[in-house]
Amino acid sequence: MINYKNIPSPCYLLDEAKLEANLINIKRIREAANVKVILALKGFSTWHVFPMMQKYLDGATGSSLNEVMLCNDKMGSLAHTYAVAYIPSEMETIIKNSSHLTFNSISQYNQFHHLKEKYNPDISFGLRINPEHSEVETELYNPCAPGTRLGVLSSDLKVLPEHIEGLHSHNLCENNVDALEASIEKIEANFGNLLPQLKWFNFGGGHLINHKDYDIDRLIEVLKTFKKKWDVEVILEPGSGIAWQTGDLVSTVLDIVENAGIKTAILDISFTCHMPDTLEMPYQPDVIGATIAKGDNGPTHYRLGGLSCLAGDYMMEYHFEKALKVGDQVIFKDQMHYTMVKTNTFNGVAHPSIAIWTKENNLEIVRQYGYSDFLRKL
Ligand SMILES: Cc1ncc(COP(=O)(O)O)c(C=O)c1O
Repeated sequence: MINYKNIPSPCYLLDEAKLEANLINIKRIREAANVKVILALKGFSTWHVFPMMQKYLDGATGSSLNEVMLCNDKMGSLAHTYAVAYIPSEMETIIKNSSHLTFNSISQYNQFHHLKEKYNPDISFGLRINPEHSEVETELYNPCAPGTRLGVLSSDLKVLPEHIEGLHSHNLCENNVDALEASIEKIEANFGNLLPQLKWFNFGGGHLINHKDYDIDRLIEVLKTFKKKWDVEVILEPGSGIAWQTGDLVSTVLDIVENAGIKTAILDISFTCHMPDTLEMPYQPDVIGATIAKGDNGPTHYRLGGLSCLAGDYMMEYHFEKALKVGDQVIFKDQMHYTMVKTNTFNGVAHPSIAIWTKENNLEIVRQYGYSDFLRKL
């Protein structure tokens, strides 16, 4: 059990035991379906726990030179790499440090495929396809929205380019297995002529495997069927699905202001800087000891306000069990994925520390940020 008493504020606090419990589920899928599951570093890159994560995963997927280097350096494996476009000057290092590399377009393939012989003859090239199947309502998160720049349409891919051994499809976001099944149906209908020629198929991320309602047994069956039918290696690269519900963002009330009957507790964090998905998706994160208030403006209802000057840097509205006061802790749940990888220091706001609550019930503070970090970034 985490003891929140001595946690510095603000702080991303990773619960190692919860992360390991998620990874045990991942390992079961890998073994039962005989598939590869790799971590999408874009969703979670807190490398201090990679030595533990390595034991349960087949490595990681990188979407930039930095992530490819991180995968090699801290995950101890060559990366599965996919980037929307590659930068020519980075290609030598990326190819040398990747086992698989997926192109987003035929023109990128044409630009770079000759480098395989020069830098890494063992690398396996793939192509991202657009399965034209959307499960995501928010346009910002929908890789298959009309006119999308992500992936090749089946109408533009009648034959497999010579050096392509795999296909990659990422079209899900926090979905259950039924969404994957619907995607597979579409992929088989649109790209079925190419599937027998492949060595591997990567089903991207968006599989919310560790959500309590996720049907893991069904996933195993679906993956086994696909593998057998097309005789391919299957790869999944979840981010959220691995780091789901594995830690909090701990904050403190700095002030309480009131305007037009609305009380706002101003915290030492910022939604736009430290939890950007809450504004972009948008969604309202759960807070320990509070419920999401609906409508009525009760005496212990608060907006939670961020530290930046962005007018919309707040979340409405929470019902707390008792009145908040300056110095109280406010703890946001499930703030491990797409937080630390996305933070910024807009307004020069302090970056939260990063800490791990270990399986042995110890607090390990792994990163603290100060002025020199801010200075170096700019
Ligand atoms: C290509 C690709 N793979 C994997 C992921 C990870 O997705 P998630 O964190 O939803 O599992 C993403 C997320 O944007 C992605 O773009």
